[in-house]
Amino acid sequence: MKYDVENRRIWFKGEIVNVNDARINVLAPTSQFGLNVFEGIPCYWNEDEKQLYAFRLDDHYERLLKSSRLLQIDCKYTKEDLEKALIDVVRANEYKENLSVRQTLFVDGFASWGAERPVEMFVAPIPRERTSAEYNKKGLHCCVASWRRISDEMLPPRIKCGANYMNSRLGQREALRNGYDSCIFLNDMGKVAEGPGSCLFTVKAGTLITPCLTDSVLESITRDSLLKIAKEKGFPTVERTIDRTELYTCDEAFLCGSAMEITPVLSIDRYQVGSGEIGMLTKELHMLYLDIARGKSENFKNWITPIY
Ligand SMILES: Cc1ncc(COP(=O)(O)O)c(C=O)c1O
Repeated sequence: MKYDVENRRIWFKGEIVNVNDARINVLAPTSQFGLNVFEGIPCYWNEDEKQLYAFRLDDHYERLLKSSRLLQIDCKYTKEDLEKALIDVVRANEYKENLSVRQTLFVDGFASWGAERPVEMFVAPIPRERTSAEYNKKGLHCCVASWRRISDEMLPPRIKCGANYMNSRLGQREALRNGYDSCIFLNDMGKVAEGPGSCLFTVKAGTLITPCLTDSVLESITRDSLLKIAKEKGFPTVERTIDRTELYTCDEAFLCGSAMEITPVLSIDRYQVGSGEIGMLTKELHMLYLDIARGKSENFKNWITPIY
């Protein structure tokens, strides 16, 4: 690390600058209405190889471009531009540790929420000791939120945009107010959707079960990775609609996402999940995922991009 976190360099409107020198117009649609689309891209440091690997870069950029297309934000960057900006800014900071890189396309200028342009970008690496595997081992006590997850007919959860996180916030704040760590949302059909910043898996009789992509969830890259890893390992998986009561009777449950990795859920609405301890399959999938992301596995090598 070349700079302390308060003075880290970020990529901002085509230049690499001190984070304190990056200014955003308060009247821009991004500031006023959350008109931005973004990715949180995990990068893992491999100490043996002295290498930093970005995880599933191409898939993150595919989703970013999809989000900007759906919101009709006029993105001027190609995938190659997006990747070069990330690599340049991480190298500029000389990071040799695990990171989450926030890559955001935002609508700047003085127009309102209907504007398509000007679109600008920032790329900000965030060192992530707090969301390391150690932190995630603790496990969470969750409630089912009284708020419903946003839906495809209203504010599509498939779009990863800043504004969608106000739905996440309502659920998360409710959970914390009521003494829980986090929440699980039901969708507008009353079926299980996802967490506020993560997808959900349960395990029942050895089968991994996760809601379908049409059940009001983000098309999570971690969810997709776990389904592929599980298939490769021969663990049974099923993508299907999940009832609320199934949450109370499953053997294991976990939330997953680029930031949360695989975080066990120990109870839901105070119903203990399984034995109340971290489940075997949860633990094994987390280790497999980390080995792949750190470049320590021969499998899925095409998912990782070396930064140095
Ligand atoms: C609502 C929601 N669902 C799921 C996820 C997990 O997505 P990913 O695995 O691509 O990080 C996130 C994380 O950004 C999220 O905000």
